[in-house]
Amino acid sequence: MSERTFSIIKPDATERNLTGQINAMIEGAGLRIVGQRRIHMTRAEAEKFYEVHAARPFYGELVEFMTRSPVVVQVLEGDNAVARYREVMGATNPAQADEGTIRKAFALSVGENCVHGSDSVENAGIEIAQFFTAEQIPG
Ligand code: CMP
Repeated sequence: MSERTFSIIKPDATERNLTGQINAMIEGAGLRIVGQRRIHMTRAEAEKFYEVHAARPFYGELVEFMTRSPVVVQVLEGDNAVARYREVMGATNPAQADEGTIRKAFALSVGENCVHGSDSVENAGIEIAQFFTAEQIPG
């Protein structure tokens, strides 16, 4: 079934001019980029986005990292988009990511891992709503 997921191309990837290569892998996996904006996340936006991780020891480092350079926020659409994008991203830790995944190809570490993708359809809706209005996602 066609659904949407939320993606972020993170600072470590935009700093290395990897946006185009990552988008090619996303599109090559059959996902359509239906919304896309390049933004410099504010500290407040990053803290809110990652508030479920607020108690984790890496939270401060994560917020620092996500606000270090611009990111590309995206809405991806396709059959089983949430699961499909997680397959294309590969494991959170690039050392455990499969060949052919974005993180295997480009990620530097568990923190600087190039991309974020929603973990459920419900969270995708919440995450998309934080960064996009309906008008910014033309059908
Ligand atoms: P993401 O999918 O964006 O959601 C939470 C992020 O926390 C995750 O990707 C990782 O980049 C980051 N993260 C997870 N574990 C660690 C860790 N041990 N140290 C630093 N960052 C981490």
